[in-house]
Amino acid sequence: QADERESMYLVSEYANTFFQNSLHKTEHGKAIGLTYFKERGFTEETIKKFGLGYSPDSWDAFTSEAIKKGYQLKYLEKTGLTIVKEEKQFDRFKGRVMFPIQSMSGRVLGFGGRILTNEKKAAKYLNSPESDIYHKSKVLYGIYYAKQSIAKEDNCYLVEGYTDVIQFNQTGVQNVVSSSGTALTSDQIRLISRLTKNITVLFDSDAAGMRASIRGIDLILEQGMNVKVCSFPDGEDPDSFAKQNTLEELTTYLDNNVQDFISFKASLLQKESKNDPIKKAELVRDMVTSISKIPDVIKREIYVQECSRIMDISEDVLFNTLAQIRNVDA
Ligand code: CTP
Ligand code: MN
Ligand code: MN
Ligand code: MN
Ligand code: MN
Repeated sequence: QADERESMYLVSEYANTFFQNSLHKTEHGKAIGLTYFKERGFTEETIKKFGLGYSPDSWDAFTSEAIKKGYQLKYLEKTGLTIVKEEKQFDRFKGRVMFPIQSMSGRVLGFGGRILTNEKKAAKYLNSPESDIYHKSKVLYGIYYAKQSIAKEDNCYLVEGYTDVIQFNQTGVQNVVSSSGTALTSDQIRLISRLTKNITVLFDSDAAGMRASIRGIDLILEQGMNVKVCSFPDGEDPDSFAKQNTLEELTTYLDNNVQDFISFKASLLQKESKNDPIKKAELVRDMVTSISKIPDVIKREIYVQECSRIMDISEDVLFNTLAQIRNVDA
């Protein structure tokens, strides 16, 4: 079993080298893949640092080369790099630009592959399947490059995608990771909690991003961590925002727009329902539900006071609601 995993790591490492060579050393890779990354504003240095690559636009260019080099089809299939159908072999990532996903210690576990067009004929991103070396719920994209900076800054920025992590790094903010392609899990949060107790969720300014960040908040609170939230101007995500700004502009924006989760939730009310009492009641219950996830009793009390002040509801009522919610949960 350990041997099998080691073989899967080796195949993945080979694929990583193959995709990078294909990007940097083949005409097709340079013309298509490298051009794509450069148009996104990634420098040569950034492309190398993150090991970005290109998977040739051919049915089995990667698979046949790997087999020629002596890698076994069994492991190519187990890692999901090759799809076997009716005894034929196909490259999973045909014609995509490649983002290797690394463990905390830098081993390649899997890949994300993006199509180059914005046509809707195929999924924008394809990811390696769950496997014996790639447990999606326990991996954070970018953690290998972020870990030192997270500990040093005592804060971790959590973003949605690969390119958000990369563009932040290029701009000079390194304490950033992404749950890339899965909803945030408690295992991922525990990974961060070894480095810091503070998470700042940076979400895409669209409905999907908003929903994802709201789901994430309670999960982070449950782990006893502190959570803040920051949104970006309409239509922007962390990648597009960082691309247009200098490090100083980016950090100034973050410093000025980071909100505590409680005032973030309160600001949703201002946006959605203004003075509707029913909506307000729902939102207060929602805020108290988040507060109820906090394991530390003193922090809970502080947030109840904060919620009382912002929403103009007495602390007594909030504590009663909190007790109700905790009784139902228990
Ligand atoms: N994702 C995925 N499969 C998709 C779409 C998205 O796995 N079909 C994951 C990817 O990890 C992606 C993240 O969700 O990076 C965020 O999605 P989105 O915001 O749509 O993509 P971006 O990261 O902004 O990608 P791009 O800028 O390249 O369009
Ligand atoms: Mn396992
Ligand atoms: Mn998005
Ligand atoms: Mn995005
Ligand atoms: Mn984007």
